[in-house]
Amino acid sequence: MTPIYGDFAEVYSDSQYTNFSATMSEAVVRLVTRYVFSPRRVLDLACGVGVAAVFFAERGYEVVGVDRSERMLDFARRRAEAAGVAVRWDRQDMRSLALGAPVDLVTCMYGSLNYMATDEEFAAVCRGVAKNLSPGGLFVFDVLTIQGLADSSKMKSLVHESAGRHLILHQNKFDFETAVNTKTLTAFVKRGREYERITEIHRERAFPLETMERALESAGFSIVDRFSGAGLKPLRPDSARALYLTQLDRGPRRSRLTRRRWGYEDA
Ligand SMILES: C[S@@+](CC[C@H](N)C(=O)[O-])C[C@H]1O[C@@H](n2cnc3c(N)ncnc32)[C@H](O)[C@@H]1O
Repeated sequence: MTPIYGDFAEVYSDSQYTNFSATMSEAVVRLVTRYVFSPRRVLDLACGVGVAAVFFAERGYEVVGVDRSERMLDFARRRAEAAGVAVRWDRQDMRSLALGAPVDLVTCMYGSLNYMATDEEFAAVCRGVAKNLSPGGLFVFDVLTIQGLADSSKMKSLVHESAGRHLILHQNKFDFETAVNTKTLTAFVKRGREYERITEIHRERAFPLETMERALESAGFSIVDRFSGAGLKPLRPDSARALYLTQLDRGPRRSRLTRRRWGYEDA
């Protein structure tokens, strides 16, 4: 089977998917600046075509972007070059993360953790993030909840179109037993007067909140807050998306994560 985010990388980079990534990046900066916490080094895990990594680098953070897909990283490199920022790109599988030096903040966005096939894979990512974070460092991620994945798959097919350059068809099949959505992505990409067809099959799994929270806590994180998405509204039982703000054990010398008393709304 062809690897996911292979040929599809070109379409992803040139489509409305990146708008969502931009919205999430802004939300993360808004969220983190609510706290007395000044990250210097940031890792964007499963960085895709680099929207968040470039956004963070433009705001002065030292950024590493990790993804398993070389094709996605190619587009990420181009994005950073066009923006004139330096980001370290690293091809790695997030289930066995190893950075040379610890970072202060790890982000993992746009449901990238829904690509973990088992509870153990989810837990392995949490442990890897913990190993590569400095004490008291933050891990912020969003995932589709079981409700969200089931709902999104109710749309048996969905079509995106990008200014005549390509057309994307999503075909979903959600299995309620396993909480796995099998998504067939078919894109028609305009090449001169013809269209090239690209097909990839993606499997996304949703995890019960308790499963994710247990894995986070076993890896040494405490849950600071839970939201229902980029609007930073509280998470509810029927939320389609869960956005977590978690903190790694601080160790004896780090102070508690505290909210700024004013000014964060406009930060
Ligand atoms: C929906 S895209 C999100 C990309 C990016 N976070 C964004 O917000 O646009 C999912 C990404 O997860 C990456 N990914 C999936 N499984 C991975 C793994 N095991 N290790 C590293 N990256 C992975 C894919 O290559 C893809 O770039």
